[in-house]
Amino acid sequence: MSKYFIANWKMNLSLPEALQLGRFYSTLAKANLRVEFVVAPSAVFLMPIHDEWRYKSKNLFLAAQGGRAEPSGAFTGDVSIEQFKGMVSYCIVGHSERRRYHKETSFEVTNQLKSTLANDIVPIYCFSELTKSTPKEAAHNCIRAIKLELADLSARQVSKIIFAYEPVWAIGSGEPATPEYIDAVARGVRAFLASNYGHIAAEIVYGGSVNEDNASSLANLETINGVLVGGASLERKKIEGIVEDFGRK
Ligand code: PGA
Repeated sequence: MSKYFIANWKMNLSLPEALQLGRFYSTLAKANLRVEFVVAPSAVFLMPIHDEWRYKSKNLFLAAQGGRAEPSGAFTGDVSIEQFKGMVSYCIVGHSERRRYHKETSFEVTNQLKSTLANDIVPIYCFSELTKSTPKEAAHNCIRAIKLELADLSARQVSKIIFAYEPVWAIGSGEPATPEYIDAVARGVRAFLASNYGHIAAEIVYGGSVNEDNASSLANLETINGVLVGGASLERKKIEGIVEDFGRK
C-alpha cells in the first residue's frame, strides 16, 4: 500500500526557490512510485508549479494550504476553495495555524470541508487535542473534535477525507508525538469512523516535527498512512531521508 508524503511548505520560499524545489519533488516522485507526494506551496506558487509539472508522474499532486468556504465575495486578500478547482487535487483544511492566526472556528472548518468536497478536491483535514495528555485522553479529545466538525457530513463525504492527526504541541517543536501516542489516537479515530460512518479504511496521516531521524519509527506504524511534513519538507536531505523510510514500507 502506498504511503503519503504531504509537504506543507507554509509561507516559505521565493518563486525561483519554489520552482526548484518543485522540480526536486518531481524527480523524487518518479523514482519512488510507492509514495504519494502531495505538495502544498503558497497559493501564489501553485500555478507556476502546476505548469512546470505538465508531464509529472502519477504519484505527484498539488495541494492548497487552505481557503475560504464562500465561493466568492468581499474578502480582500483571501482565496476561496472554489478558486483552486482544476489547479489542485488536495486542500489542507483546519490546520492549527489557520485556527490560531485566522481564528478559524469549527463551524468554518466544517464549511470548508463541504466546499472542498463539492469542488472535487480531497480535504486533508487536520485535527488535534490542544494540550499534551495521555494517549487515551488524546484519543478521546480528538474524537470529540472530529465528531463536532463532521457532524453535518454524510458517510459518503467522510469516506473521501484524509485525516491528519497534528498535535498542536508537536508542530514545529522538534518533539513529535511518540509512535505509541499516535497509534492510540489513530486506532481511536478509526474505531469512531467505523462505528459512526461504516468507514473502515480511513486514511490517517501524522504531522508534527517529522524528520529524517524519526521517520522510520513512523513508517513502521500500521495505523497511519503517511506523514504531513512542515519544516523538513523544505530541505532535500531531510526529504530524501523520510521518503527512503516510507518508500520501503
Ligand atoms: P512541522 O509542521 O513538520 O514543521 O512540525 C507540520 C505541520 O504544521 O503541518
